[in-house]
Amino acid sequence: MVAVEQQSATDFDRAGAMPRPLIDPFARAITYLRVSVTDRCDFRCVYCMSEHMTFLPKVDLLTLEELDRLCSAFVAKGVTKLRLTGGEPLVRRGIMTLVASLSRHLTSGALKELTLTTNGSQLEKHAAELKDHGIERINVSIDTLDPDKFRAITRWGDLGKVLKGVDAAQKAGLKVKINAVALKGVNEDELADMTAWAHGRGMDLTLIEVMPLGETGESRLDQYLPLSLARARLSERYTLEDIDYRTGGPARYVQVKETGGRLGLITPLTHNFCESCNRVRITCTGTLYMCLGQNDAADLRSPLRASEGDAPLHAAIDEAIGRKPKGHDFIIDRNHQRPAVSRHMSVTGG
Ligand SMILES: C[S@@+](CC[C@H](N)C(=O)[O-])C[C@H]1O[C@@H](n2cnc3c(N)ncnc32)[C@H](O)[C@@H]1O
Ligand code: SF4
Repeated sequence: MVAVEQQSATDFDRAGAMPRPLIDPFARAITYLRVSVTDRCDFRCVYCMSEHMTFLPKVDLLTLEELDRLCSAFVAKGVTKLRLTGGEPLVRRGIMTLVASLSRHLTSGALKELTLTTNGSQLEKHAAELKDHGIERINVSIDTLDPDKFRAITRWGDLGKVLKGVDAAQKAGLKVKINAVALKGVNEDELADMTAWAHGRGMDLTLIEVMPLGETGESRLDQYLPLSLARARLSERYTLEDIDYRTGGPARYVQVKETGGRLGLITPLTHNFCESCNRVRITCTGTLYMCLGQNDAADLRSPLRASEGDAPLHAAIDEAIGRKPKGHDFIIDRNHQRPAVSRHMSVTGG
């Protein structure tokens, strides 16, 4: 009898009757959650990690069941889009179990989209299953189509394997978007060809500026290519037309007249996109970051573990969203060589 009473209290807490939707102090509704399911990765991209990274002890990580519970609390609070990222999400052991269980929120209609950002190294073997679990679109990060440059940028990556992953994803019916970080003197002369390649295969391409996150052992000033320059260079070959198309993310899009495809531009350093920010991020240890470019955070692991019911968790989420800042203040110049934020992108997942 006691057990039954406890069970129903838990169910009530989990359902939370009508959990309050997430509205931050600047009246922005938080509907998009990005979850870094692991800080580990099978690559060591030069702008993201140092070659000899120290990763979190595995005991600090939330279990897959805890990640599911955490994500589900956000879904109950009005999150409609969930992106799994990392580190490399597809290297987390058992990740497909999490994808499978989260897909119930797609079936129920609470979640409009479940998606993932991947380096593609493990995509060939998982693509069909991702599609089976209701994932429609994925982002694959590829900064160059030159195998040697690819190895140099990722330090450990094999371009051929990644391209096989892209083939498998498209074959499985997944819509693929390519993300490329624009890197001064590395891939800047290749961006026009990459545009032709991506658009030729029916994929959007989004270019990203290097962000000053975490020490990597490389100078960010050496890597940083403002997208205003990249765009000017692309304009020598293509006619670029600004369009209103939005995916709910920070990218601004242009239509490339010659290819008929779309090119996204993510410019955190040259263009401030914070005013329409609808997202928050959680790490694999259950830390909630309200802004990618700020250090303020909230621990959700303690309230998650403190009770079988979700009331403490909901309260902690509400409190944290009440602290979401207005915007970030990234800056890269000769006077600011140190990272604006000390954690790596692989911790919060980009
Ligand atoms: C951190 S990765 C995680 C997912 C997966 N491992 C991948 O590479 O797609 C997510 C995205 O962040 C980008 N990224 C990593 N570090 C960055 C930085 N310092 N500045 C800008 N983009 C970065 C990557 O290129 C990738 O597109
Ligand atoms: S960008 Fe992605 S693939 Fe590259 S090191 Fe970071 S987490 Fe790994």
